[in-house]
Amino acid sequence: MKVTLRQLKVFESVASHSSYTRAAEELHLTQPAVSMQIKQLEGNIGLPLFERLGKKIYLTEAGKELYGYSSSISRQLNEIEEILENMKGLARGRLRVSVASTANYFTTRLLAGFSKLHTGVTVVLDVTNRAGLLTQLANNETDLVIMGQPPQELDLVTTAFMENPLVVIAPLNHPLATENQIPFVRLQDETFVVREPGSGTRIAMERYFSERGARLTTGMEMTSNEAIKQAVEAGLGLGIVSIHTLELELETGRLTVLDARAFPILRHWYIVHRQGKRLSPIAQAFKIFVLEEATSMASKTLN
Ligand code: PGA
Repeated sequence: MKVTLRQLKVFESVASHSSYTRAAEELHLTQPAVSMQIKQLEGNIGLPLFERLGKKIYLTEAGKELYGYSSSISRQLNEIEEILENMKGLARGRLRVSVASTANYFTTRLLAGFSKLHTGVTVVLDVTNRAGLLTQLANNETDLVIMGQPPQELDLVTTAFMENPLVVIAPLNHPLATENQIPFVRLQDETFVVREPGSGTRIAMERYFSERGARLTTGMEMTSNEAIKQAVEAGLGLGIVSIHTLELELETGRLTVLDARAFPILRHWYIVHRQGKRLSPIAQAFKIFVLEEATSMASKTLN
C-alpha cells in the first residue's frame, strides 16, 4: 500500500468536515486538488473512502477504518514535533551524567538544584569508579562526566571546577590522632585500607607514595568510600579519602583527619566530555550550572 502523509492529511480534513470545500479552505488548496488527492488515495488503497448520498458525503467502512488510524498518526506526528522542538530548548529531555563514586557525595546536591530549575528534564545518573568512567567516555555512553584528573590519551574537553583534597583519616583513639605535623616517613609504618584498583583515589595515593620513594603498606581492599571509613573507624588501618566523603564523620566526631606533613594530596574535580560531542542545550546548561555552583559548594564543604 502506497500512502503519503500528504494524502492522509487531506483525507483527514475531508473526513472531519464531511466536505471537500471546507477541506480545501482549511488546507489552502483548490477543491479539484483535494478531489484529486482523495482519488489517488482511493486508487492506492483499492477501496472507496467516501460515498455521496444526496448532497452529503459519508465515510465508507474502509474510510472509517482509515480515519481511526490517520488520526492517531497525526497525533503522534504532533507529539514528536513537540518533543523535537523541546529538545532544541531546555524544557524537556534527558541528561546523562556519570560521576566518580567519590564525586557522588556532592553531585546529588548539584543534580537536585539543577532539576528544580528544569523540572521537565529526566536525569540519568551513573556512579562508578574512574576506570568505569573512562570506558563510558571511550564508548560515547554518557553526556558529561565528573571525575578526578582526566587522562591525556583520550580527546577530552576538561574543566577543573573544585579542589579535591585527599586526607589521611584515622580512628579517634589512634596514637597519631593527637600528633601535629606528622612526618611523611611515619606513615610508612602504618597499614592503609584502600579502594579497589581502577579507583582514582587509589591511583592518586599510590602515585603520591611512589613519587616520594616511600613504602605504602596496604591492608584490606574495598570498593566504596563508605566501607573504607567504617573499616578505619573499626581500627583496621588508616585511610586516604577525599575530604568530600567526610562531612558526616567529621561532624559527628567518628573519625579524625591526621595532621600529616605533605597532606592533603591536592587534586581537582573536572567536568569532562569528549571533544566533538554535540552537547544538548540541557547538557550545556548543566555544565554551566556546575561551574557556577562550584564556588559556593567548595566553601561549604571545606569549612
Ligand atoms: P574514585 O574517584 O576513587 O571514586 O574513582 C575518582 C577520582 O578521585 O579520580
